Amino acid sequence: MDLSSIQPLENVQFIQGDITQAETIVRIKDLMNSRRADLVLSDMSPDISGCYSVDQARSAWLCECALRVVDQILKQGGHFICKIFEGEDTIKFIEKVKHRFIVVKTFSPEASRKSSSEVYIIAKSFKK
Ligand SMILES: C[S@@+](CC[C@H](N)C(=O)[O-])C[C@H]1O[C@@H](n2cnc3c(N)ncnc32)[C@H](O)[C@@H]1O
Repeated sequence: MDLSSIQPLENVQFIQGDITQAETIVRIKDLMNSRRADLVLSDMSPDISGCYSVDQARSAWLCECALRVVDQILKQGGHFICKIFEGEDTIKFIEKVKHRFIVVKTFSPEASRKSSSEVYIIAKSFKK
């Protein structure tokens, strides 16, 4: 799902919506039709304002919303990958993730290491 539309892709079901809205999560659940997901992956990032503390807080809020999706659709033992802008909210968010998963690590891909302060949280084995 994304705020923006995409070109249709084979074998991909896409929802255009805002993850901060509860109705979008309902739409995701409807699409899952009572099935549980193996993986929830969020590459979301906010529109950049230029003020890092604002952008970081918005990024953390998108991650919180992605974690709501995890709580509603991920199967036990499933995995979660989530991009976050590093900052004061990161530690608190990682703590929330650690409550839910057996293994939690952060990873900074080579491609984004020099130009940005985004990191990926990789969480394995959802405890439910
Ligand atoms: C770095 S892009 C990644 C897009 C896609 N994963 C890709 O690789 O092309 C970040 C995406 O987050 C989306 N986004 C930002 N805020 C959102 C929100 N509230 N709900 C859903 N998507 C959002 C943006 O529309 C943007 O497409």
